[in-house]
Amino acid sequence: MQTAIITGASAGIGRATAQRFQAAGFTVYNLSRRACPDEGVLNIACDLQSEASIADACSELTAVVNASSSVALVHNASQMLKDSALDCSSESLRAVLETNIIGINGLNQQLLTLLPRSSSVIYVGSTLSEKAVPGSFSYVTSKHAQLGMMRATCQDLGGRGVHTTLVCPGFTDTEMLRTHLGDNPEVRAAIADMNAFGRMIEPGEIAEVIVWAHANPVINGTVLHANLGQRES
Ligand SMILES: NC(=O)c1ccc[n+]([C@@H]2O[C@H](COP(=O)([O-])OP(=O)(O)OC[C@H]3O[C@@H](n4cnc5c(N)ncnc54)[C@H](OP(=O)(O)O)[C@@H]3O)[C@@H](O)[C@H]2O)c1
Repeated sequence: MQTAIITGASAGIGRATAQRFQAAGFTVYNLSRRACPDEGVLNIACDLQSEASIADACSELTAVVNASSSVALVHNASQMLKDSALDCSSESLRAVLETNIIGINGLNQQLLTLLPRSSSVIYVGSTLSEKAVPGSFSYVTSKHAQLGMMRATCQDLGGRGVHTTLVCPGFTDTEMLRTHLGDNPEVRAAIADMNAFGRMIEPGEIAEVIVWAHANPVINGTVLHANLGQRES
């Protein structure tokens, strides 16, 4: 059995990734607070802010991983707030890091040593894993940390036959981006114009990269930019 374990497959990029893995014949598990609406995806209710919730999910997943010939562990879920270095309280930063960093570590601690050879650990970062913009302080901080986690994971998994990568999407048309930008069509058009193709990325385009990354261990430790050629100025 080939298995995909995806955080945040109830919406957006995670949901599209679940669909792609399903189409490729994988058994797919979604870990999020809401269920994935797609038939056949197996839902384990999980709040990445809660250590107990992660432990419950992992106790369910242990037998699944042990029965799998290959596992794609996709750390996709993230929280994004509008904040800045001038106004982000430590409490708020802690909450974002809890979902975007500590939650990932909780899953890794309980699952990494169980992964069979030919498995992968795919982190979903962002263009903001390597650069910053104003007004996204906690998100930028956490996305840079995910890059460090991926690189350290690569070094520490050496010899296990398990590879890792960080897929960094550009502006992708999902709930997260719509919430961040609001409904203003002019703002959406300006954002769409910030890459060489003048459009938003579809979640399925990022999902294709994730499924490909799982199948190709040669990109172990790599940052994969998936942003339609985002403008640099
Ligand atoms: N959209 C973009 O333009 C863009 C650009 C660069 C990077 N990304 C990255 O791509 C990934 C997916 O984002 P998206 O745009 O697809 O976002 P989305 O549509 O808002 O989906 C986010 C997912 O994360 C889950 N999630 C959030 N908090 C959670 C928690 N505490 N516990 C469990 N699950 C949680 C949500 O599930 P529940 O609400 O059901 O729990 C949801 O399924 C994220 O890592 C994001 O940073 C997105």
